[in-house]
Amino acid sequence: MSHYDKHVFFCVNQRPAGEDCCNNHDAQAARDYVKDKVKQLGISTEKHQVRINSAGCLGRCELGPVLVVYPDAVWYTYVDRSDLDEIIEEHIRNGRVVERLKI
Ligand code: FES
Repeated sequence: MSHYDKHVFFCVNQRPAGEDCCNNHDAQAARDYVKDKVKQLGISTEKHQVRINSAGCLGRCELGPVLVVYPDAVWYTYVDRSDLDEIIEEHIRNGRVVERLKI
């Protein structure tokens, strides 16, 4: 059994200038946004523990920016804050996969 109900990893990998990577799409800011919002909304509780982590390259750079939600092992890409809000509300809070953002 997973220690966390939802454990989210954001690739925030930064490659040298000119090479494609998730942080070229502001992945670190996206991760910080989700971490702050989960805290602000009180989604992580003693009974529903959520953790939002930064990760290095997750090996799916061509589909980036990417994040993965465990224990479900569901991968997402995202464009803007409204995509992240939908992942927070639907998947992280309510356990429903956001099909339109799934990769
Ligand atoms: S740089 Fe993000 S998956 Fe490789």
